[in-house]
Amino acid sequence: MTGVDVARSWDPKLKIDVAAIDAQHEGLFDRFDTFVEAASARDHGAVRREASDALAFLARFVDEHFGDEELAMAESGYPDLERHRELHRAFTRELAGLVERHRVQGATPSFLLALANLFESWLTLHISQVDQRLGEFLRGR
Ligand SMILES: [Fe+2]
Repeated sequence: MTGVDVARSWDPKLKIDVAAIDAQHEGLFDRFDTFVEAASARDHGAVRREASDALAFLARFVDEHFGDEELAMAESGYPDLERHRELHRAFTRELAGLVERHRVQGATPSFLLALANLFESWLTLHISQVDQRLGEFLRGR
């Protein structure tokens, strides 16, 4: 583990030293900050717009981002690739479920909570922990 266990804002300590992936991670934290700002302003119209924008952003983002990470793992011979890839698949399925839920129900309070939870688990569990193990491996080669 690095010194960052749980991060909710981008911290350069989270870098795994692959420039494209680090930039994507930073972009994800920024997106979450924007979402939280809109939510804490208690402006329902702004929250709905931001939720919809964030969802579209994530839907575009996952394929490229997970693809880049999985390529870095494959090229470096990362031993935990399969387990890591399965976590990516689980996120992708969860996101697809949210996209469908949003299409059917719109930005209900429970949808907004589910979106916030998806973001949080991605940032605090995945980027701050699972991806860090990849970073340590890449640095240790
Ligand atoms: Fe990952």
